Amino acid sequence: MKASENATDDRKPFLSDIMEIRRRARQHIQAGAVTEGYRADRQTVLRLLNEALATEIVCVLRYRRHYYTAAGIHAQAVAQEFLEHANEEQGHADLIAERIVQLGGDPDFNPEGLLTRSHSEYSATEELLEMIQENLVAERIAIESYGEIIRYLGDDDPTSRRMMEEILATEEEHAEDLRMLIQALGAKGSTQTGDGHEAKGNKSQAPAAERGSGGQAEGQEGDAGVQARHAAIVEGRKGAQPQAGGGDRAERGKGGRRPHS
Ligand SMILES: [Fe+2]
Ligand SMILES: [Fe+2]
Repeated sequence: MKASENATDDRKPFLSDIMEIRRRARQHIQAGAVTEGYRADRQTVLRLLNEALATEIVCVLRYRRHYYTAAGIHAQAVAQEFLEHANEEQGHADLIAERIVQLGGDPDFNPEGLLTRSHSEYSATEELLEMIQENLVAERIAIESYGEIIRYLGDDDPTSRRMMEEILATEEEHAEDLRMLIQALGAKGSTQTGDGHEAKGNKSQAPAAERGSGGQAEGQEGDAGVQARHAAIVEGRKGAQPQAGGGDRAERGKGGRRPHS
């Protein structure tokens, strides 16, 4: 009995809090999801989310450009990966825009100033290995800046933080995909000669490893399966079979956020 009495005593102040919470919720209904209990600096959060939105839009544009312009003996496998990433970046942009509106802000889709707002860069390179490198650099920039946004949000806006954490996890997968592709292409480039594209890939191999994956060597052993998968994709694509690249992605279970694929 004593325990239940204590429980009742503990609940009383909480119940009166509920009344207060309800009163406050009714007070500014037009504020939507933003209540008086929202602890973050809303304007700063909106600015950061709009920067993340711009970053995602630029990533969509860059990946799509690379998808359509990738050329060379290994292009189809790589282009398929670019397309999947582009679609997932579009999904991220949609999530972020939705959250901005929930917070009572304006999602900024204005093409003017897009690159200034974006953390990542656009690249119109036409060389396959450089495309992968540029995308890996952009992913690593996104990983860094999203990590900062997540730390900033902390417990002040847990909904935005969880969204950014989910997005961050996907960007890390993207970076890993690209690193594996560089490895697979490098391996092919170093074993095959007599083809213009192979020679190009071979030449760029060293800077790719340095730029994209500082200290990645330690991961190679444990990633043998993924590495083999990507190598197999590259190998399979030599015969130009357009569907093989899409299937492996489905196994990962990205929480069903693949709106366009
Ligand atoms: Fe993204
Ligand atoms: Fe990404």
